[in-house]
Amino acid sequence: MGMLDVDRIRAALRTQRIGRRIVHIESTTSTNDEAWKLVEGEPVGADGTVVFAEQQTAGRGRLGRGWVSPKGASLLCSVVVVDAGAGPAGGELGLIAAVAACDAVKATTELLPSIKWPNDLLVRGRKLGGILVESRGHGAADGGKAYVVGIGINCLQQRGHFAGTIASTGTSLDIESSHAIDRSSLAAALLSELDRWLAEPDRYSADRLRRAWLDRAEAIGGRIALCHADKVYSGTVLDVDPHAALVVQLDEGGVRKFDAADTTVADEPTPGGG
Ligand code: BTN
Repeated sequence: MGMLDVDRIRAALRTQRIGRRIVHIESTTSTNDEAWKLVEGEPVGADGTVVFAEQQTAGRGRLGRGWVSPKGASLLCSVVVVDAGAGPAGGELGLIAAVAACDAVKATTELLPSIKWPNDLLVRGRKLGGILVESRGHGAADGGKAYVVGIGINCLQQRGHFAGTIASTGTSLDIESSHAIDRSSLAAALLSELDRWLAEPDRYSADRLRRAWLDRAEAIGGRIALCHADKVYSGTVLDVDPHAALVVQLDEGGVRKFDAADTTVADEPTPGGG
């Protein structure tokens, strides 16, 4: 499998904020680790920096899970977002990344992925990609926060790459699409889509994000079972809160918001990627 063509990605970008600096690494523990090193070195100046890797030896998924991918098969990417006050933060960044990843796949293939709450990318019901947003105080004098938005999209994996518990739940663009998959075009499209949401934080609208996420999400109005604090809740999905909380009409009565940080969808397979 060939390497990402970072010169071609740079040449394709017309972004204002995302991709101002692009780092491409052959192998690392996790692109999120590399992004955090850059934030430590230059807390505010790292804003908009993007790290790509061909391979991760300790890729991380949500909720303490791992994320496994063969070398050169996925788009493995971390984007640094330093808190811009008015702009999106935390869970909102996860929803933005899911919407952006969905639209980047649409722009570069014939596939129409959907989003499974809070930010899994699905094609034909199988997991194509996932998002892990991490946050820290960035250490600069104003006490602001920095976020690393980690995005993994399965691109060139074949069926045999998905083993064990993800054998029937994981998929890749190459499996699902009839066209040749170009990771560099996908990468450029992803950064462009992220930039549309993040270039002008003052103009960011939580309501616009909520509507964009709902347009792409599966299961709104559908049945869901959620695990939260050792209890399973069943109900009907009503809405999403821009901070990534799912709003559910519970079978036991009442409407309740479930925070993405401490809730899982009951049928989710344990390991992350593919
Ligand atoms: C999930 O679905 O649980 C989230 C998976 C996030 C994986 C990506 S791959 C690039 C970045 N680096 C990591 O270690 N994780 C994210």
